[in-house]
Amino acid sequence: MAQPLIEAERLKLVDALADGAWHSGEDLAAVAGITRAGLAKRVEKLRDWGLEVEARQGLGYRLPQPLERLQRQLIDAPLRFDILTATDSTNTRLLDSDPAQDPQALLAEYQTAGRGRRGREWRSPFAANMYLSLAWSFPAWPPSLSALPLVVGVLCAQALREQGAAGVGLKWPNDLYAQGRKLGGILIEHRGEAGGNCRVVIGIGINVAMSAAQAEGLTQPWISLTEISAAPPARNRLAAALLRRLADGIAHFESLGFEAFASEWAALDLANGRPVRVLQGEREYEGIGRGVDAQGALIVEALGQYQTLHSGEISLRLA
Ligand code: BTN
Repeated sequence: MAQPLIEAERLKLVDALADGAWHSGEDLAAVAGITRAGLAKRVEKLRDWGLEVEARQGLGYRLPQPLERLQRQLIDAPLRFDILTATDSTNTRLLDSDPAQDPQALLAEYQTAGRGRRGREWRSPFAANMYLSLAWSFPAWPPSLSALPLVVGVLCAQALREQGAAGVGLKWPNDLYAQGRKLGGILIEHRGEAGGNCRVVIGIGINVAMSAAQAEGLTQPWISLTEISAAPPARNRLAAALLRRLADGIAHFESLGFEAFASEWAALDLANGRPVRVLQGEREYEGIGRGVDAQGALIVEALGQYQTLHSGEISLRLA
């Protein structure tokens, strides 16, 4: 069977289960247009996407919590975007895409090979979180391009705040944190281009409603938006807010540079004036965060001196 047909069949099942209530096997089989005997195998395929589907004798099947699928018509955004059901990594897809279509965004419900910084895996269970990438071509290299990660962090924090999330802060250079745990991350990549073009792919992963089972094995403390939002977070509204903030904010950055975002960054900077631990190769030392410079490099006061540290060279821990 062709891939789109398999996907469409699975999505019918997902939609039938999306309310989080119990559904009998008979009903689900009828909705998906399959036999009762084939249902268990189809449910198993949903689990392959990282969906937790509970099964109980006499009750049928359910998801432990309601799920909101991304829908194009619910995402009001000022730039070109696409939604994929499943892909390897939205960043990888956009790195391979046609720059003539930039700015262009890509969202996915599920990533088979979601990538984090430093070659780490980015856990991407189906429709539990937000997986979004944006490809942007700058006609000329912006003078403070190294501060772009910080700007994207600020724009994400603004979108989250607008959507009702409380207490979101930023850990340099671009981790989203809440209550001392990681809420989201940003991975900015580019491929060397002939002719000196500056094209970046900005990947954003935000935990929306990830369960402990879906996060099993993650070594870093993490948190989902559900824990810091008064109402259940709406993924379509969040996607629209992120795309709007990014489209406006990056255009703003292109013309005004990091300076236009510096005060907002300082207000969100979780290391500012606080003890930090710097990991630099084999070296590890403690200091106090003293903000960032005009290029977005981190300033740490340690051993009586101010040091300017660049992302990629060090790893920062909040003490
Ligand atoms: C980090 O390590 O903190 C960065 C995580 C970035 C994850 C996002 S999810 C959407 C995009 N696609 C990927 O494969 N990675 C980024």
